[in-house]
Amino acid sequence: MLSGKDDSGESRMREICMSGSTREGEAAVIGLRASHPVLSPLLYRVERLSGRIAESFRKATMERVSLRRMTEADLLASDELRRLAGWNQTLGDLRRLLWLEPRGCFVAVENSEVVGTVTTTTYGQALAWIGMMLVHAAHQRRGIGTRLMGQALEYLRDRGVACVKLDATPAGRPVYEKLGFVPESTLTRWQRPSSGKTQTPDAAAAGARELTDADWEAVDAIDHAAFGASRACLLRSLAHDSRAVLVWPAQGRVVGWGMVRPGANADYLGPLVCSSEEGSLSLVTALLDRTGNPSVIWDVPDKNESAKAAAQRFGFAPVRPLTRMRLGPEMVAGDRQNPFAIADPAVG
Ligand SMILES: CC(C)(COP(=O)(O)OP(=O)(O)OC[C@H]1O[C@@H](n2cnc3c(N)ncnc32)[C@H](O)[C@@H]1OP(=O)(O)O)[C@@H](O)C(=O)NCCC(=O)NCCS
Repeated sequence: MLSGKDDSGESRMREICMSGSTREGEAAVIGLRASHPVLSPLLYRVERLSGRIAESFRKATMERVSLRRMTEADLLASDELRRLAGWNQTLGDLRRLLWLEPRGCFVAVENSEVVGTVTTTTYGQALAWIGMMLVHAAHQRRGIGTRLMGQALEYLRDRGVACVKLDATPAGRPVYEKLGFVPESTLTRWQRPSSGKTQTPDAAAAGARELTDADWEAVDAIDHAAFGASRACLLRSLAHDSRAVLVWPAQGRVVGWGMVRPGANADYLGPLVCSSEEGSLSLVTALLDRTGNPSVIWDVPDKNESAKAAAQRFGFAPVRPLTRMRLGPEMVAGDRQNPFAIADPAVG
């Protein structure tokens, strides 16, 4: 449990922070020593020296970089970091994350400049999500990411959260593995290029209609069953910033819903959950018709074969893998169906 003082994530993190002897330079010297026994004593001294340099560099960095809570005043700088990384979230997405968890978002600062960010979003005490884990390219591999994660995990432990999840990029995965996160499932980011066709295939767009206030009860229940925790506040806020929020079927009991919203680089399709395959396709068709933006991003759980097939049929291509990872016991398993589209890697 994360709430335990001796949890393995915490002690492993401390171990990583203390170690400074795993740099590539040292590995190269160790390799040379093995193949040149005559030079071995000299190389041994070089190896020790490079270890000490790496250690002092890491310590100096630790001292110069400070971590603190993110505030409204950090939003623009944090968004600039996001822009440099090419991520699709907007300033509004960042503001929402801070609004949802004002004490649980952090920045790393060096010389008054924001060089790293991390956000947390709690869904009760059973589950929390970590997102926007970013370190400026010029400051990576200096332990900043690990420290930011440590800060986020400490905050969540103090809040008594049992299980923490995130959607890791290939760059983030080794950092999280070192902290004890384990892979749970995989997703793929699909994108329809800006030169792609805006005409959607002839799937039945009919059958979906605009969400009304009266639909929220059904929508909350559908999302809860698929995601495993209630996130009503987040969903309403996302809906507020969306281009379109639709439910299916247009008449009778609502069994599915979905939305599309603007992103920094492309529109973002999701979340989208529907117990009927016909309904899922109808929602995708209708939402893509509403975007007006040829470039659309869609994060698909790999287990959802029909979503994958639909993405291909609608002219999307895979752009990068994501790994859903977990720290702590699985607290939200239940009667789950795979969503057609997640809400955002930063919130699950
Ligand atoms: C992922 C990221 C946040 C890591 O931040 P960081 O400050 O570089 O991480 P740390 O210095 O704390 O790295 C900790 C350890 O993770 C591992 N690690 C970090 N980056 C790695 C990489 N590119 N390849 C392999 N291992 C890596 C290493 O074991 C490293 O320890 P070491 O440097 O002593 O070998 C940063 O690389 C980044 O912002 N990447 C681009 C955005 C991104 O993908 N974010 C993750 C979203 S899920």
